[in-house]
Amino acid sequence: MPYAELKQDATSVRASTGTPATGLLDIDPVTFRGCFDRRPFLIGHALTNHPLFEISRLMRLCRSLPESSVEYNAGNIPISVDPKRTPGNGLSAEETIRRIAQCRSWLVLKYVEQDPEYRALLHDCLAEVAWQSESLRPGMFLEQGFIFLSSPGSVTPYHMDPEHNFLLQIRGSKRIHMFDGRDRSVLSEEELEQFYRGGHRNLAYPTNGNRRGWTFDLSPGFGLHFPVTAPHYVRNGEEVSVSFSITFRTPDLKRRRLVHIGNAFLRRRGFRPRPAGMHPRYDFLKYLAFGAISRIHQFFGGGGPS
Ligand SMILES: [Fe+2]
Repeated sequence: MPYAELKQDATSVRASTGTPATGLLDIDPVTFRGCFDRRPFLIGHALTNHPLFEISRLMRLCRSLPESSVEYNAGNIPISVDPKRTPGNGLSAEETIRRIAQCRSWLVLKYVEQDPEYRALLHDCLAEVAWQSESLRPGMFLEQGFIFLSSPGSVTPYHMDPEHNFLLQIRGSKRIHMFDGRDRSVLSEEELEQFYRGGHRNLAYPTNGNRRGWTFDLSPGFGLHFPVTAPHYVRNGEEVSVSFSITFRTPDLKRRRLVHIGNAFLRRRGFRPRPAGMHPRYDFLKYLAFGAISRIHQFFGGGGPS
């Protein structure tokens, strides 16, 4: 079905549910309210045939982005990878896109909002998310978009991300394995502290077998919500995959980050800090204290408490 018809179709669905929207996403409000930033859940979208995701347009986007906004490497890697040992693929970024079907690679175009057309699409999509999220987590800011291109069978290693994220599958399929980031047998306080102090997003895949998790097979027209810092890895299907990640932050994430940084500060000085999220009063005190210390460090040109 052409994109214009899909969009029209989605718009009529939205009209029937009474939610004002641009008709790009299809989000169940009850599921959103129950699961946002807690558990992954599926949504629908109408971007499958959108012209901004054609390979020729993506190559033009790639040429226009600064080098620092294009990351790519070999995609035939294990799920647990030391970031310093991630192998390259020996091609240019444009060549990687052109040969994505054969070159066994993984490429991401970062901060695609630098291009006005992608920025408009990102904001249209996130306006629909904000309709649901503002009552739960007000203050959406730092809206950012990422486009992933992956060769058949390529792997995105086990990692976590710092932002609210919806991954919209445009072309091909992905199998996504996600784990509960609130479960400390899955993700330890120390790993969170290391991450928020600027450590790499890749994680060592744990070997303990008793882990709560979910598996989703994502196909075109569907999207998946990734709760903040929920560890996951992704295995591509047998075709080229193109997906669009729409992300944003909320002020509570700043507070969460500061509490983890504060706990890291205390732990390195021999204390055993109370885990973040367990005691709101202690979290608030840490947020006030380490927020103030962080501002003083920044005033004097430092990078914050460490
Ligand atoms: Fe991710």
